[in-house]
Amino acid sequence: MNEFLNIALPKGRLGEKAYDMFQKAGFPCPEVLNPGRRLILENTDAGVRYFWVKPSDVAIYVERGAADIGVCGKDTLEEQAPDVYELMDLGIGRCRMAVAAPGGFTDDRSRTLRVATKFSNVAENHYRKAGRDIDIIHLNGSVEIAPIIGLADVIVDIVETGTTLRENGLEVIETVFPISARLIANKSGYKFKHEAVRKLLDGLRNAAEDK
Ligand code: PRP
Repeated sequence: MNEFLNIALPKGRLGEKAYDMFQKAGFPCPEVLNPGRRLILENTDAGVRYFWVKPSDVAIYVERGAADIGVCGKDTLEEQAPDVYELMDLGIGRCRMAVAAPGGFTDDRSRTLRVATKFSNVAENHYRKAGRDIDIIHLNGSVEIAPIIGLADVIVDIVETGTTLRENGLEVIETVFPISARLIANKSGYKFKHEAVRKLLDGLRNAAEDK
């Protein structure tokens, strides 16, 4: 098991883009892009094993050491605060975390602000810094509905193209932080598989320079 570098990829387009970078960096495993229903793919010659996992679970695999390396959005890292090393900004999956509200919204600071979000910790931290009292309404998706139907005053959510906000009559009030995909590593895997991790990092840097 030890001779393999275990990499957790987020299922979907971001994971496919990241895999493309990894294979260019010297860790190919062609079956990754054609896995059928298989979730674990390996290439013995290249010494690499890939897992396709739910994007929000990548950091858990890496923190627990089930994967040595993972690809994780800055949004998830800020929300989950996993005990992992953040090694590199992969420069893909760029978007932002933002506060949004219906057009014409003004904040009445005499009232507690109701905030709907999938990112409760991000929202808490953001408003704690601003010294604003809030009531978090944790939702698991389709957060944009909340201010429209009066469940919340604002949302804290990911904005990529802005289309979802626009089509639901919402607009960005403030950006909380920019987001991109990060390469993360398990803390002991980073030590014990240092040679492979170093090879991956060098390969990724060279691939980026060749672009
Ligand atoms: C994300 C996010 C926004 C949307 C933003 O949702 O929560 O709803 O994408 O993208 P846009 O700015 O390009 O329109 P996702 O597709 O992950 O679904 P969910 O949060 O509703 O589950």
